[in-house]
Amino acid sequence: MIIAIDGPAASGKGTLGKRLAAHYGLRHLDTGLLYRAVAQAVLESGHALDDVARAVAAAQALDPTQFDEAALKSHAAGEAASVVSAIPEVRAALLRLQQDFAAAPPGAVLDGRDIGTVICPHADVKIFVTASSEVRAKRRAIEMRRLGQIADEAAILADIRRRDERDSKRTVAPLKPAPDAHILDTSDLDIDGVLRHAIAIVDKARSGAR
Ligand code: DC
Repeated sequence: MIIAIDGPAASGKGTLGKRLAAHYGLRHLDTGLLYRAVAQAVLESGHALDDVARAVAAAQALDPTQFDEAALKSHAAGEAASVVSAIPEVRAALLRLQQDFAAAPPGAVLDGRDIGTVICPHADVKIFVTASSEVRAKRRAIEMRRLGQIADEAAILADIRRRDERDSKRTVAPLKPAPDAHILDTSDLDIDGVLRHAIAIVDKARSGAR
């Protein structure tokens, strides 16, 4: 079984992906980490984020087993990822890795922006996770404070809106729900509630009903 989860920054899709994978005994790939790792490699090489040849080379050399997830999850890495992810050649270079991951048994949960539309258009279940930008900024601020970081909620909100705009307006694989995606608005749900709703969606889809 392949479950595709897409949604905007800080919508909780990563946490949901992890929990759904554990529930169904599937593997999980947070595809945002791929773009974050490409961006980090380009920056570490001292080149500009829009250096297409460098970014493609970084994408081709990625080894997800070596990811330092904590470092890649930084705010700066997310911003940088949003820039390299708009380069079509980078997206093309990461396509195969994601599709191979999805196809290997027993199946997988992938979360990102274009999983249901481009990477796995034939996924068994597609869920598009949304929440208002205010709710997402609040969640991100709480998470940062939990990690002992200083969080300016207004600045986070502005960043989230800028990232939404960049991710949805780009010409290649923009953030948008697949026509057959189930929309899951998590604005008024905690993670257990989100998981319950998602499991209900998956079970219903698997039983053939929609
Ligand atoms: O989900 P995230 O915040 O870790 O993603 C970081 C950036 O990577 C985001 O701004 C858009 C990009 N991204 C993408 O374009 N396609 C994906 N499948 C996943 C992430």
